Amino acid sequence: MSVRILGIESSCDETAAAVVADGREILSSVVASQIAVHRKYGGVVPELASREHLKQIVPVVREAIEQAGIGLRQVDAIGVTQGPGLVGALLVGITYGKTLAAAMGKPLVAVNHLEGHVHAVFLEAHKAGRSPQLPAVCLIVSGGHTVLYEVKQQNETPGDGSWLFHYRKIGQTRDDAAGEAYDKVAKLLGLGYPGGPILDKLAAATDGLPAPVKFGPTKTRGNPLDFSFSGLKTAVLYHVREHAEYAPEIRQREEALARGERNFAQLLPLCGPRTLGLVREFQNAVVRDLVERTMTAAGELQAGSVLVSGGVAANSQLRATFEDRGKKAGCDIYFPSRALSTDNAAMIAAAAYPRLRAGILADITLNADPSLALA
Ligand code: KG4
Ligand code: ZN
Repeated sequence: MSVRILGIESSCDETAAAVVADGREILSSVVASQIAVHRKYGGVVPELASREHLKQIVPVVREAIEQAGIGLRQVDAIGVTQGPGLVGALLVGITYGKTLAAAMGKPLVAVNHLEGHVHAVFLEAHKAGRSPQLPAVCLIVSGGHTVLYEVKQQNETPGDGSWLFHYRKIGQTRDDAAGEAYDKVAKLLGLGYPGGPILDKLAAATDGLPAPVKFGPTKTRGNPLDFSFSGLKTAVLYHVREHAEYAPEIRQREEALARGERNFAQLLPLCGPRTLGLVREFQNAVVRDLVERTMTAAGELQAGSVLVSGGVAANSQLRATFEDRGKKAGCDIYFPSRALSTDNAAMIAAAAYPRLRAGILADITLNADPSLALA
């Protein structure tokens, strides 16, 4: 009999629930995105996020159970995100998870959201019948995080195909997360929210266009594996301010956004070659920085594989560049699918599985930890 875990995720702006069997087979995965709610503010508004989670949590869990083709009673355990994240948002999922677990007499497992992102990579690898070699270097790169870990297997891993990992933080951003830089640059260019997906597509449409400005590698003092993206964002801002020719286009795009015209086909004709070249150069700089530091870490630690997860891992240029560098370095690169890269609850259920097997359980006293660390 397989072990079915109901995963619940509400750390930021996605209300998600999923059922995963034996930590690797996704029976269902439902994600209710709040993008439409936060869009007009150009970022996540914590208070609105909590309220939206409250509205969504019950239908989302119900749909995950239905799609899995089981009843709530057939769930063997509940895994819920404890942190890091927005406290009010986390509390919605935690309270619901605790209540369900108590009412049904099922075990409750607390999951670190970042560990969920690591397990998203393993979920995807298992689907393809692959198993990432450890030790690995893992880059988690999203709207809230840009952090590098060394991932090893823990000695007390149950040995039944589930993995308990040991993490060591080896680098992190000193300021903005990479996804945050995408969102801020998109906002200042009048390209809407969230910024990553649209900038990704626009950058891909710039083949051969010259860059109107060059952004060199970012230097960080101290730990060479630390990241920094706020300087790059400010460089884009100053460049745009100094060149008046961007302004009319930005205004036109803002007007288009206000009319609800925000997809790639609608925005591309409103982007001149200068803007496209700038977007490409911004993305080149972000991708170069993420890939260089991660591959440096992999080389130094003689990692068997590189794992890349989080919303920005959906980026096509980042994927292609990592694949290319991995081939040259003889190092396997693992990404989750795009759906598993951004926040979801399948990764939370998957991360809960080895903890359940190892008897690492939470109880009714479980509380949200907005700055929960992984290492
Ligand atoms: O992991 P995620 O869903 O939520 C957080 O934990 O932050 O990541 C969302 C972030 C946003 O900043 C979004 O702009 C970025 O991931 N993102 C992308 C792409 N898709 C989403 N960034 C670059 N390229 C993409 N294709
Ligand atoms: Zn996340």
